[in-house]
Amino acid sequence: MFDEATILRRLDEIAAQISNDYRDRELTVIAVLNGSLVFMSDLMRRIPLPLRLDCLSVVSYHGRAETTGEVIFKQIALPDVVDRHVLILDDILDSGHTLAAIREKLETAKPRSIRVCVLLQKKKERARPVDADYVGFEIEDEFVVGYGLDFMERYRNLPCIGVLRKELITSN
Ligand code: IMP
Ligand code: MG
Repeated sequence: MFDEATILRRLDEIAAQISNDYRDRELTVIAVLNGSLVFMSDLMRRIPLPLRLDCLSVVSYHGRAETTGEVIFKQIALPDVVDRHVLILDDILDSGHTLAAIREKLETAKPRSIRVCVLLQKKKERARPVDADYVGFEIEDEFVVGYGLDFMERYRNLPCIGVLRKELITSN
């Protein structure tokens, strides 16, 4: 679907946009593990601003290709974001459950602002409405892997993003 060069070219554009939007502010990036790891590391090196990095880890998929809607936070304490300009980074916006829950949770920690950045956004009706402020690519409602995205913890190390063949999903 997207080769490495295409992804990196798009990251140049998003990083420029983020750098411009936050030029007078100190940014706190909150990366949602594990899917956003590769995206986060390529994106943050393109943002020449003072920034902090924290990570959040949630479980929302239970290893299968469909969502249950339940989002479990794996850490006891939230990152300290009081008065900070928070940018949540995630790999993909699908049903919206994950990002809606994370956004809601972080809002209780009293940041000054919150924005959301996703590498991919699926064109579909979401179970929970989430507005992503920065989107790498809009894609059809297909299950994709690579560049950090997994199916049952595999394929994260692919440098490109591709659609997982249907027979690989159902045979597992
Ligand atoms: P949501 O809560 O349904 O929006 O899903 C968010 C999470 O589900 C993402 O952070 C991914 O980890 C996972 N996910 C959703 N769609 C895909 C996909 O097409 N490929 C791989 N992971 C996905
Ligand atoms: Mg996943």
